[in-house]
Amino acid sequence: MNELSEAVRILSSGGLVAFPTETVYGLGCDASDALAVARVYDAKGRPQFNPLIAHVRDLDAAEAQAVLPAKARALAEAFWPGPLTIVAKRREDSTVCELACAGLVTIAVRAPAHPMAQALLAAFGKPIVAPSANRSGRVSATTAAHVRDDLGAAVDLVLDGGATTLGIESTIVAFDGDRTVLLRPGAIGRADVEAITGPLEAPDPSAVEAPGMLASHYAPRARLRLDAAAPRPGEAFLAFGAPASAGGLTLSERSDLVEAAANLYAHLRALDAMGAEVIAVAPIPQTALGEAINDRLLRAAAPRT
Ligand code: TXA
Ligand code: MG
Repeated sequence: MNELSEAVRILSSGGLVAFPTETVYGLGCDASDALAVARVYDAKGRPQFNPLIAHVRDLDAAEAQAVLPAKARALAEAFWPGPLTIVAKRREDSTVCELACAGLVTIAVRAPAHPMAQALLAAFGKPIVAPSANRSGRVSATTAAHVRDDLGAAVDLVLDGGATTLGIESTIVAFDGDRTVLLRPGAIGRADVEAITGPLEAPDPSAVEAPGMLASHYAPRARLRLDAAAPRPGEAFLAFGAPASAGGLTLSERSDLVEAAANLYAHLRALDAMGAEVIAVAPIPQTALGEAINDRLLRAAAPRT
């Protein structure tokens, strides 16, 4: 089997494939598969669910996921395929799972230019979400060897495209109503972006340092009661390490934090839809992905403004 069909087979079965882009290597998985996305967060060792970039073939594929205003489209036409990432409103019918977007109402999309990335996206035929292929807190990987050193057995296949040519991450531009914001300086210079969009605004510092703090993060309508050993009368119970009780759900019956992360948003939404007024949530261990799950739960439980 050639490497590309092997990569597609792995992606289709929820595995992780690292691949080169012209900026840095990405740690990719099927964007629609929350369990695979949870494995990516686990492999990175991220204490939070940072939203991931959805890699797509071209502008058409991006517009199937994101609502792009005219200026964003113009920017994409100028720089795609290439080292540009656009953040815009996520389409209601986006196939990128909520965990990959960290529960935000926005989505990041990028059409990379590297021939191996393009070949992979064409062969897979669906968006691939990928953060930089390094462990959290370490520098981005620019060779296949860096990826293997950093992530080891956590990645199922590393497509080796040699050293990346740019070596620094993509420039991220966000479109938020009338505002155009430079979220992350990167491989394309500010002046080149501004030639098309006009002046770029500086990001709201709290939003960039911790995307998890954005007010637009999903919070259930129900109130949450955390660290609950058992539900009180009238509460819906979100269990962990135990089967679901009547009218409740379990994040993971077998105490698997990767499975729990994959289920988190969907289960909160489902319990909300059942009309629960209070969702009691079982204690989640503060280890591995548990830290990110607890981070999200704390935010969801915080008083609403
Ligand atoms: O060059 C790159 O951009 C590489 C290659 C693999 O594409 N990717 C990369 O991904 O650098 P990552 O996950 O290391 O950085 C992506 C950044 C994160 O800081 C994340 O918070 C931000 O993009 N981001 C993603 N979606 C966002 C959103 N909806 N709103 C705001 N920021 C977002
Ligand atoms: Mg990174």
